[in-house]
Amino acid sequence: MDLQEERGAGVAAELKGTFVRADVTSEDAVVAAVEAAVAQAPLRGLVNCAGGGTGGRTIGRDGAYASAHPLDRFAATLALNVVGTFNVIRLAATAMSRNEPDADGGRGAIVNTASVAAFEGQVGQAAYAAAKSGIVGMTLPIARDLAPAGIRVNTIAPGTFETPPMLAMPDGARAALAASVPFPRRLGRPAEFAALAAHLLVNPYVNGETVRIDGGIRMQPK
Ligand SMILES: NC(=O)c1ccc[n+]([C@@H]2O[C@H](COP(=O)([O-])OP(=O)(O)OC[C@H]3O[C@@H](n4cnc5c(N)ncnc54)[C@H](O)[C@@H]3O)[C@@H](O)[C@H]2O)c1
Repeated sequence: MDLQEERGAGVAAELKGTFVRADVTSEDAVVAAVEAAVAQAPLRGLVNCAGGGTGGRTIGRDGAYASAHPLDRFAATLALNVVGTFNVIRLAATAMSRNEPDADGGRGAIVNTASVAAFEGQVGQAAYAAAKSGIVGMTLPIARDLAPAGIRVNTIAPGTFETPPMLAMPDGARAALAASVPFPRRLGRPAEFAALAAHLLVNPYVNGETVRIDGGIRMQPK
């Protein structure tokens, strides 16, 4: 499920899966995507990845109200990350709650994507950090809500990964980020994120937790 039809269809073909175009903040589109999954097999796993946001400082330099951080951009970042993640969770978990339970009573598992910015937001990251810490903050209460249905919920907080937004950065900026990672001194690879997501989906005893995957990085103010 993504907005990018062509690339989504390409990945689905590679995985012999199905792509559904859906805006994660739309109830109708996400219900249609969940129904498309359920039509193939019981829905037992969900990985929420859609997210992002633009940067910007809280106030401008000229003392003008108009220079303050645009409120619509702040709200849009919360809508995509927090509202979108919650929307997909509530609808996918509804379908999962109808699954036959496994030996533990488990019916499904959910993995969300936050960011280390939830803990160490940098200058200009007020909106993104607020949004990602919203995902961290809702992980435990949702895990508690879904416990009676046998559905686990965990969140991954990635450091800096080699994905399209990072690859679009100037080489120098990317190299500086890589140099600030204690070990291994490089950006993370998507397959390393995927390995953690897969583990959180299958390990029945991890629940309500946020796990960093960041090579030990701790972001500085700038
Ligand atoms: N790359 C990193 O270093 C890094 C670090 C920390 C957290 N993250 C988080 O990881 C996740 C994946 O990011 P990425 O780096 O792969 O970037 P990305 O931009 O490649 O992936 C985000 C995806 O979300 C999709 N999307 C955006 N709005 C959507 C919407 N309303 N409905 C459905 N899909 C939508 C985009 O089309 C895109 O494919 C994001 O939540 C991001 O905040 C990334």
